[in-house]
Amino acid sequence: MRVVILKDETAVSHRAADLLCGAVAKNPATVLGLATGGTPLGTYKEMVSRVERGEANFSECTTFNLDEYVGLEPGHSQSYRTFMESNLFAPAGFNLDICHLPPSSAKNLSVACSEYESSIEAAGGIEIQLLGIGTDGHIAFNEPSSSLASRTRVKALTEQTRKDNARFFDSIEQVPKLAITMGIGTILDASEIVLLATGASKASAVCAFIEGPISAQVPASALQLHPRVTVLLDEAAAGWLTRRSYYQQVEAIQEKLEQGDFDPNLI
Ligand code: F6R
Repeated sequence: MRVVILKDETAVSHRAADLLCGAVAKNPATVLGLATGGTPLGTYKEMVSRVERGEANFSECTTFNLDEYVGLEPGHSQSYRTFMESNLFAPAGFNLDICHLPPSSAKNLSVACSEYESSIEAAGGIEIQLLGIGTDGHIAFNEPSSSLASRTRVKALTEQTRKDNARFFDSIEQVPKLAITMGIGTILDASEIVLLATGASKASAVCAFIEGPISAQVPASALQLHPRVTVLLDEAAAGWLTRRSYYQQVEAIQEKLEQGDFDPNLI
């Protein structure tokens, strides 16, 4: 796992945009896995700015979002489709025909979940998956105790997650109790994963998933099994890490390697 500790949220957003835009610059038809919530907003804003400056073009990208609430009517202001359309898809010029979110208003949700898995597979799999993390260690809506091999399915949200997300609604009663979410197994199938965490409220979950044991009680810890994960943290989210100086040392070496000026005698 590559753990990158950056000065602040803006630096995290810029680095995440670099990674996504870099992949799309190499392959304009990259299949992106996307997240909602407060954390990726800065990244999406930066991606939109790069499109406006003519530095990026996402019109050929196929996208799959991690999750969608069950029970909100289509077009609801807090549905994740609305979130994605207003914060990224429309302003950054994505082709809406190839932007997918779990179809949470389908009549048969379990069939809809299998179809979502099949459409990811038919698109050739997710090349780069963006993730946030819940204060309870969830990724997507895989709450603690989710199987580490889980696939897309309907999941009940914990009270903690509903409280955390109540800030987007008028009251906690309005926060849905169910969501369709990609499973942990689905997420681990992505070729590359970029997890973002900012703010002190994430410090405990961040420490648990990076430095703790792999456990269904901390769903993000399953990422320890994936060979290409980059974790972008601001100072506050990195606050509980005990091996911080080692991560910074590794990162400094990694940066030198990438710049091609690696001299083992200088390390
Ligand atoms: C959203 C998602 C969730 C969020 C997590 C953090 O699509 O999958 O796992 O990433 O709940 O949310 P924020 O960023 O609002 O703190």
